[in-house]
Amino acid sequence: MELKIKNLYLNFGNKTILNNINIVLNSGGLIGLIGPNGAGKSTLLRVIATILKPKSGEIYLNGEDIIKNPQIMRNSLGYLPQQVPYYPHLSAVDYLQYIAALKGLSGRKSKKQIESLLFKFHLDNVGKKRLSEFSGGMRQRVGIAATLLGDPKIIIVDEPTAGLDPMERVTIRNVLSEMAINRIVILSTHIISDIEAVATNLVVLKSGNVLYTGSPAQLLQKVSNSVWEYILPSNEVPKNLENVSSISQAADGIHVRVISKSAPNVTAINVMPRLEDASLAILEGGD
Ligand SMILES: Nc1ncnc2c1ncn2[C@@H]1O[C@H](COP(=O)(O)OP(=O)(O)O)[C@@H](O)[C@H]1O
Ligand SMILES: [Mg+2]
Repeated sequence: MELKIKNLYLNFGNKTILNNINIVLNSGGLIGLIGPNGAGKSTLLRVIATILKPKSGEIYLNGEDIIKNPQIMRNSLGYLPQQVPYYPHLSAVDYLQYIAALKGLSGRKSKKQIESLLFKFHLDNVGKKRLSEFSGGMRQRVGIAATLLGDPKIIIVDEPTAGLDPMERVTIRNVLSEMAINRIVILSTHIISDIEAVATNLVVLKSGNVLYTGSPAQLLQKVSNSVWEYILPSNEVPKNLENVSSISQAADGIHVRVISKSAPNVTAINVMPRLEDASLAILEGGD
């Protein structure tokens, strides 16, 4: 499957939100859409989901124009917005049955799918409980299960792991990356480490501009030999925070991680780059 986005432009008033976006997305692996808050991720996903019309540009799904014919996209789409719909009085099963009915699934089909999705997301013991009794992470998992009902061929999930505990993140990542083998799956996040292990393709967005598309490995390549770490005494205040990728307090002092072509000081050691370092280098690099 192929989703081709051509010269996509969108503004709200006199503010450019999506600035001439050109990308091609394929099935075969999870696609990570990353970028800081306000980058335009949710807006781009809403345009792809045909909820929002762009000012100009085209989107083709397997060669078919989905801005002219949004039904083509809607027929194959599972979309989870950033603000997950929430029906507190329904049980998880009732909610999923309701969504299944909206999607036009038959009773028998939906019963089977709901069972298997609840199992996949470790919710099989709480299917009869009301959503009002669920934790945020459980609700989020129900939301993703609802998105996957009807086996959509294009799955778009907008910041699905925000506020989840590490185990819940792993569950969601694994289910989605398995589905991405033969579907187009796009996951957006502003937490790069969330998709470090699973995305096979990345799109980095900032201020409505695509700064990078490609594999995580190629992105890491951009900062090879350029990530350094040094330790400051715990009572020292780090100064000159330019190009600092992270600062963390540890038992032996303050660990400062810096992106720089050459060693920032004599105690700094060269370390393995992480995706977070590479995306920072890109995001800070060019405006
Ligand atoms: N309905 C809207 N009207 C005006 N501005 C909007 C609207 N929705 C989003 N924006 C603006 O568009 C930009 C991108 O927002 P968004 O797509 O939500 O970014 P992200 O999902 O990457 O955090 C932000 O500056 C936001 O304030
Ligand atoms: Mg968003």
